[in-house]
Amino acid sequence: MKLIIINGPNLNLLGKREPELYGHKTFEDYFSELQFRFKEVELEYFQSNIEGELITKLQEVGFEYDGIVLNAAAYTHTSVGLGDAVKAINTPVVEVHISNTYNREDYRHVSYISPGAKGVILGFGLQSYDLAICSFL
Ligand code: DQA
Repeated sequence: MKLIIINGPNLNLLGKREPELYGHKTFEDYFSELQFRFKEVELEYFQSNIEGELITKLQEVGFEYDGIVLNAAAYTHTSVGLGDAVKAINTPVVEVHISNTYNREDYRHVSYISPGAKGVILGFGLQSYDLAICSFL
């Protein structure tokens, strides 16, 4: 089972960025915990602040891997290109968000990712990623 977590813009700042919303842990520390918890899974991690790089990564892995856990962050709410990429590939994508985007600003209630996603998990803090991985097992 080969899975990849793809994180979008500003998620490289986890631990420092608005900790009241996103927590105090860096994603690198959390990713080590995930690798320990899901030893049976070949787990990769990719992060970019650049929309096109996220699309290129989706295309690269999207005909080969067993699953993609995607937190497109702010691009979730703006990117037709990322939404199209999710629909274009064969690998199922589970959309995740750390925060509950539905109890935040209205512009966060729209997702260009959801229509092409296998499912959506949001609002459970970093545990959203655990739950997304479990959904592939
Ligand atoms: C986020 C929610 C987005 O609205 C926001 O732009 C992010 C993070 C989340 O994980 O809660 O950067 O995707």
